[in-house]
Formats: sequence, structure tokens, C-alpha cells
Amino acid sequence: MKLSTEIETEIIRETDPIYEKVSKVIPQIEWAFHAPLIHEINKLKKEKNAVVLAHNYQTPEIFHGIADIATDSLALAVEAEKTNADIIVLCGVHFMAETAKLMNPNKKVLLPDMSAGCSLASSITGKDVKLLKEKYPGVPVVTYVNTSAEVKAESDICCTSANAVRVVESLGVDKVIFLPDQYLAKYVSTKTKVQIISWIGTCIVHEKFSAQEIKDIKKQNPEIVIFSHPECSPEVIAASDYTGSTSGMSKFVDQNQPKKVMLVTECSMSDNVQVQNPNVQFIKPCNLCPYMKSITLPKVLECLENETNEILIPEIISRKARKTVERMIAVGRVH
Ligand code: 13P
Ligand code: SF4
Repeated sequence: MKLSTEIETEIIRETDPIYEKVSKVIPQIEWAFHAPLIHEINKLKKEKNAVVLAHNYQTPEIFHGIADIATDSLALAVEAEKTNADIIVLCGVHFMAETAKLMNPNKKVLLPDMSAGCSLASSITGKDVKLLKEKYPGVPVVTYVNTSAEVKAESDICCTSANAVRVVESLGVDKVIFLPDQYLAKYVSTKTKVQIISWIGTCIVHEKFSAQEIKDIKKQNPEIVIFSHPECSPEVIAASDYTGSTSGMSKFVDQNQPKKVMLVTECSMSDNVQVQNPNVQFIKPCNLCPYMKSITLPKVLECLENETNEILIPEIISRKARKTVERMIAVGRVH
């Protein structure tokens, strides 16, 4: 058995290089709590042949400390399909874990907190989609990946913010039902001639930003580049310089190294991109996604240790839902 000082030395040796990267966004006093958990989770991952897939909105200690792949929701679906691990721990929200399970039905997919939902996913049910199809017979249904497997099973194809316009246009029709985000639907309709029938869902994080806020920041920082997520209102998008998915934001900063930038999206996004781009100055708007933030290191450790919170989807739903995600992946991404 190892002595406690030996364990402490091992933890320091394994986690200090990580802290060197994230020290700008995580205070040292907090790191003292994270380090032993990160060490334990990374050890368990190896023992159990597990992989951690994390969304860009996860906290820096998860994103930089334990994630094997940290990215946007489209790439999470793609990577879930590719992995050779026996267990996938999805650090993100429920629809992301469900999508990982759809793409990997024979793997164990765990979600550290089963209550990690999404205001868009809960805005619509499979029954709602059936009623819409009755109202608009023959019109294909394009469903944002931020939905339940049940809703996906009633749809023709999925999309994410990284490929929504391309997916809509891939169908070669003049009208689509586009669910459930009304703002993403509006954004897509400005980029295509295809007529969009939308739903009334919104993201509780992105709907909070206001155009006035963006204009004020711009006035105080004339050189700033503002990049918003397409779940923001049309007014916020109009006041921004660029719009795109979370990975689109990350790539933009990596490639262009703007002097000063504001990413109009969830709080942790700026922290995570900041770590990779120490010379870029970030103005950090802070709207937290309570669902994303319900995933914590102690919950990840517990669920990996005990293999609890497994995602299970009835075969009758998963067979149809998987096809909608596969069709989306075949269309690919724009940014
Ligand atoms: P991305 O697909 O851009 O990663 O966004 C997912 C999400 O939940 C945004 O709120
Ligand atoms: Fe859902 Fe919005 Fe949270 Fe993304 S940020 S998971 S869309 S509630």
C-alpha cells in the first residue's frame, strides 16, 4: 500500500503540468480540491478503458483536466461513434449522452448527473412532432441535436449549429419544419431560400444576452471582435461580427488571434479558449448553463467508479433516432 506522502507526490507529479496550463483561469486554492479528483479519474479511465467526452461548456478542470476529447455537440456525436473505449463518460447534458449512446449502442454511456437537461430539449416532445407532421404533411423535419431521442425518432434529420444551413439545403426541398430553437431557425432562414416552419423553444443561456449589452461593450472596446452563438436573438446576432458554433468560436480565436474578443455564449467557453490562447484578451460575458454546471469532478468520479447513471434507450426509439443522427453526420460540418 502506498503511503499518503507517496500518493501526494504522485498527484502533484501528474497534475502539476495540467495546472501550469489552466493557472490563468483556476485559482491555486481551488486546484488543491481538483487535483486529487483529476488524478483518481484519469487513473480509473485507464483501468476501465473509459473515455471522457466533454462539451466546450464544461468547467476548465473537466475540459483540460480529464477530457480525452473536448469539443462541440456535432464533434461529440462523431467522436462517440469512433471510440474504442468500453465506457464513455459524457461530461455535458442528457441529449449529448443520448446521442453518444445512439452512435454506440453496444458501449456503456454514463452521464454524471441524470438531471443535466436542456431548455431546448424540454421544449418539445415526440407527440408535438407527430402533430406538426400532421399539420404539414410531406414537409421534412430537421431537428436540432438538442432534443430527446424520442423527438429525433420522429424526425428526418438532425443538425447542430455547425451545419444547420447545410443540412436544410441538403434536403433539396423548398420548405422544412425546423425544431425546436426559434432563434436558430431565424438565423438559418437568413442564410437560405428554403422556407422554415419553426417551433417556440429557446436556450435559457443565449436568450439572456441583449443587443444593447453588445453595443455597449463595442463602444467601450472599439477594437473588440464579437462572436455570438446562433441560439442568440436576431438582434444580438446583428450586433455581432461573427456567428457560429462553439467549435467555430474556438477555431476562429486559434487561427486569427484577435487582440480582444468576446464570445457571446456560456461562461466556461471563454475560460477554455483562453487557456489555449494566452495572448488574446477576453471580455467574458457570464451566463451560466445550470445544466452543464451540474457536472462536477466528484460526480464524474462516482459514476465512473460505480458505473452508475447509464443511458438506456428503448430499441424502438434508438433505431429510428440513430438514422437521423447518421444522416446529419453524412452531411458534415461547415465550421
Ligand atoms: P454547439 O453545438 O455549438 O456546441 O452548442 C451546443 C449548445 O448546447 C449550445 O448551447
Ligand atoms: Fe441547452 Fe442552452 Fe444549456 Fe446549451 S446552453 S445545454 S442549449 S440550456
